[in-house]
Amino acid sequence: MSIETKFINRELEIEALRKLAYRDFSNVLYIYGPEGCGKTRLLREFINEFDGIGIYIDALERENMESAILLSPLARKAKDMLITLAEQVTGPVGRWLCTEILSLVERISLKVQLQDRGLVIMVDDVTRALGLDEIEHYIKWLYELRWRIAKEYRPKFVLIIATTSEGYSLSRVIRHTYNVANLLWNLNRDASIKLMLQLDPPSMHAIDSVWRLTGGNPRRIIEIATIFQWDIERWLTRLELELRSLVRIIKAEQLVHEVMQLIEDPDILDRQPTHKLERAYRILLESNLMMYSGLMLLSSWIEEDKSKWKLKADEELGIGEYYAWQIPAYKQVLCRLLKG
Ligand SMILES: Nc1ncnc2c1ncn2[C@@H]1O[C@H](COP(=O)(O)OP(=O)(O)OP(=O)(O)O)[C@@H](O)[C@H]1O
Ligand SMILES: [Mg+2]
Repeated sequence: MSIETKFINRELEIEALRKLAYRDFSNVLYIYGPEGCGKTRLLREFINEFDGIGIYIDALERENMESAILLSPLARKAKDMLITLAEQVTGPVGRWLCTEILSLVERISLKVQLQDRGLVIMVDDVTRALGLDEIEHYIKWLYELRWRIAKEYRPKFVLIIATTSEGYSLSRVIRHTYNVANLLWNLNRDASIKLMLQLDPPSMHAIDSVWRLTGGNPRRIIEIATIFQWDIERWLTRLELELRSLVRIIKAEQLVHEVMQLIEDPDILDRQPTHKLERAYRILLESNLMMYSGLMLLSSWIEEDKSKWKLKADEELGIGEYYAWQIPAYKQVLCRLLKG
């Protein structure tokens, strides 16, 4: 989407990243959250402000080296050298960069001293770029890379971050001890309103409806405001048409009752698991409509209040203690289609 909104909220998350960047965090930090909740934006904002050596890689970028890589101000001295690397790349550039982190660090070290500085390496959208089968090995590789970099270049601290919105990748990743997974969720109500106020909302009523439908998902908010010009009905109709084929599968698999149960209460899966509920959840997980939300939040690193370490359950938004709908509109639209 071309519109660049003013960055809102996320002070806690930025502070948490800063805190983690300045201590010995030996595991890979795996940031996971709904599609469009703002993972990329958060990482990019962080790198732009970071006062150590920061490297952000967009693993999904196919062609443009300049978009595939973002450096912190201090590391920008090495930018031209890195851009020339693109000449060697034959396939998608982001994917290539994912595996060439050591060469990037080496080139940066020729221009800027790494010793005694903080080094942060962020690889964004790893699952979509590398695929589910490779993700497990890749995270392990990142973990080993961290030690190699620490030994060879002696930075003061090294923090490696990978992100994904692919919920189904989580089970492959969290079963290993070499990473820590944290949740980043959609914006809260106040932040969502601030975001909407940048986008010429027609009324307070529209703001309220968009909040209830998007649950603060910035990409969806921006989409409704710009592409759909605040025409919420048109946006919902488009969503309905997109979800129709999924409804066909749910009906064919005879999982209507189970999906309705998950719409009522996502945590039914935790309390009364059955094979059919698992199957229904799996379909919704793979379609990126639901996800496991019981992880510690990224902001928990700087939060003293234990009650804020996890995402707060909210029935109306479709958020349980452990499972959640990525945005409330999905459950509303599915409910309408399944009943119809
Ligand atoms: N805190 C924020 N303030 C203002 N705009 C934001 C904020 N977070 C995200 N956005 C905007 O919302 C849109 C989606 O954000 P972004 O691309 O970072 O999401 P994402 O979680 O990385 O998505 P995906 O899961 O597809 O990778 C972008 O246009 C981004 O600029
Ligand atoms: Mg992203």
